[in-house]
Amino acid sequence: MRKLAIDLGTSNCTIWSDNEGKSLSEPSVVAIEAESRRVVAAGNEAKKMEGKTSEYLEIIRPIESGAIVDYEAAVGMIKWFLRQVMGLTWIIGPEVMVTVASGLTQVEQRAVMDAVLEAGARKVYLIDTPIAAAIGAKIPIVETFGNMIVNVGGGVTEAAVIASGGVVASRCIRGGSSRLDESIEEYLKKKYALAVGEQSVEAVKIKLGTAVKLKKNEVMTVGGRDLVYGLPKSIEISAEEIFEVVRPMLDEVILVIRETLQMTPPELVADIADRGIVLTGAAAKLRSLPLLLTREIGVSVHLSLEPENCVIKGAAMALENLEIYRRSIK
Ligand SMILES: Nc1ncnc2c1ncn2[C@@H]1O[C@H](COP(=O)(O)OP(=O)(O)OP(=O)(O)O)[C@@H](O)[C@H]1O
Ligand SMILES: [Mg+2]
Repeated sequence: MRKLAIDLGTSNCTIWSDNEGKSLSEPSVVAIEAESRRVVAAGNEAKKMEGKTSEYLEIIRPIESGAIVDYEAAVGMIKWFLRQVMGLTWIIGPEVMVTVASGLTQVEQRAVMDAVLEAGARKVYLIDTPIAAAIGAKIPIVETFGNMIVNVGGGVTEAAVIASGGVVASRCIRGGSSRLDESIEEYLKKKYALAVGEQSVEAVKIKLGTAVKLKKNEVMTVGGRDLVYGLPKSIEISAEEIFEVVRPMLDEVILVIRETLQMTPPELVADIADRGIVLTGAAAKLRSLPLLLTREIGVSVHLSLEPENCVIKGAAMALENLEIYRRSIK
């Protein structure tokens, strides 16, 4: 039986396969024909259609804040990706490890499991995202020492203290980096009467976004449609402006970490103070985030290697070593 690991993220779906390693990472988007409910595309192809479709086609993001919000579309998307990764062998259902955000309810977790089964898997295991992230970041989670991991994604920000293979304390907020995109979009509309496409907004966030005020301001040009005249227009935007927009979300990340530490037994807090906190998730790549968190929390915080791949790598390692990680798997 083929083995696959799936990170069903709010922004991106990543699949690892025992045959070829990481084999797919595409946006969690699916295009469905309105009348027949047939899936016509998923991932990159579907994302390209976003904002350019007719009434015959619906573009759906079936995952929100780590939870399935459109079951039928989620099944269609997963099925599409499985066929892409497995080719004809998808007929023999694979054994799958799927990551679930730690804040999901039992019902939401069950929906993830059911969707993957319905999409063609034969056997499904679930693993909490922070545990997978920790394994992928090469943290020895089965030891009795306490380790803290903070995973920042597109739709979820979660902090967890892990010891002896289990989550000892965790906090999760349903909100991640895609909220920054929304705030930037809103800001451009209000301040400059400029409507900007999703991809340009994300580019602004990645290029100018920072968690600590820059010593030397940076600017970039962004183009879109003037909301007053309806004509093309471009403006220059600065890192200083974006910093003000980003700030509220940073406060939330700090709060999530503080609250998790407050729930953690003192010995484990001492371990964390010694070892530091590890950041994972693509959104943790926001410039200077480790610096800000180190200052605010008073413990050294560092970005893992390849933060965007930790969760999927960890899920794959758990699947290949079920016996070692059995206490962390549901
Ligand atoms: N260099 C960067 N700086 C800031 N943000 C980034 C950077 N690179 C990617 N991002 C953001 O990271 C988010 C995606 O992160 P990731 O792929 O970890 O999320 P996900 O796993 O799909 O979602 P979740 O785990 O929240 O369900 C997007 O919002 C993207 O804009
Ligand atoms: Mg994620």
